[in-house]
Amino acid sequence: MSNKVKLVEVGPRDGLQNEKSLVDTKVKFEFIKLLHEAGLDCIEVTSFVRPDKIPQMQDSADLYKMVADKLDLQKLRTPCLVPNLKGLEKAKGLGVKEIALFTATSNTFNLKNINASVDESFIRLEAVAKEALENDISIRGYLSTVFGCPYEGKIQTEQVLRTLEKLMKLGVYEVSLGDTIGVANPHQVVAIISEIKKNFDLSKMAMHFHDTEGMALANIYTSYEEGIRVFDSSAAGLGGCPYAKGATGNVATDDVVNLFEKLNVETGVDMSKLHEASRFILEHLKKDSVSKFYNAYRGRHSKA
Ligand code: HMG
Ligand code: MG
Repeated sequence: MSNKVKLVEVGPRDGLQNEKSLVDTKVKFEFIKLLHEAGLDCIEVTSFVRPDKIPQMQDSADLYKMVADKLDLQKLRTPCLVPNLKGLEKAKGLGVKEIALFTATSNTFNLKNINASVDESFIRLEAVAKEALENDISIRGYLSTVFGCPYEGKIQTEQVLRTLEKLMKLGVYEVSLGDTIGVANPHQVVAIISEIKKNFDLSKMAMHFHDTEGMALANIYTSYEEGIRVFDSSAAGLGGCPYAKGATGNVATDDVVNLFEKLNVETGVDMSKLHEASRFILEHLKKDSVSKFYNAYRGRHSKA
């Protein structure tokens, strides 16, 4: 099995979507450019959702245009989150080549997040997936609340497998399994991946850990040992979903790259350039990083 991993950078979307003050579109673009220069070649740039629900993403069309205009999209994949046909129409109009469709294992979370139950969400997604595939737009899938829901608590494994199967049937090339509120532990990770392995091709699975309880790196290492080779992360550990109360950001790309470097696993990412990208966005947000490695690196490289 390959000792390379693929990182999907979700900082510009998941990382920023919860930020209250609106980040300038040009700043978002510069962040994406720096991330790409650091070697990240799959960056989720934005989402085409209701602007009143997620105000930070209201500039999605302008941002996508800027990215398509100024960056080489032969070398950079730029999936965009799409919730429904209306979002797909916008994405299509801009020439988006790849979308990410999302649903969850939990009815309550879905109702709050996308105003649809799990079953209703699949009716919506089927139409979107059909239209996208007919237009040669490839689809990544997200399954949220795999390890726990902020409203319903623990989710039964059967429910995870059932929803995962429905998502795969939409024609997605990969499903990202979300620990939306950051409550997973390595034992749960082993248990769920063992079940998934029995029924699905593991090379089509990615893991998406939020780091609320500081367990994300342990869960990533465990997932890697279990055979997963694709991981979502967010530069500087920014992020969160407004409909997942109390949950903090995604695992920091900085920490994930450091972990894999120490394990001699190739990520394709240049650490010093990644640090610049993280520093750039943190300075704009006037925030400190929650990434242990970002802070250690900064300490080591700052002039005494
Ligand atoms: P809805 O209210 O059910 O939609 O929203 P509707 O079809 O009933 O339409 C109502 C109004 O919204 C209409 O406007 C539509 O035009 C408009 P009006 O006629 O009243 O003026 N509308 C839209 N406007 C712009 N773009 C659209 C769109 N669709 C309808 N695409 C919807 C359903 C899902 C759109 C809404 O609930 C929504 O946008 N929710 C936000 C979801 C979101 O972005 N959540 C965060 C991302 S998910 C996440 O973070 C988890 C993840 O990271 C994985 C993990 O961590 O587990 C992916
Ligand atoms: Mg997320």
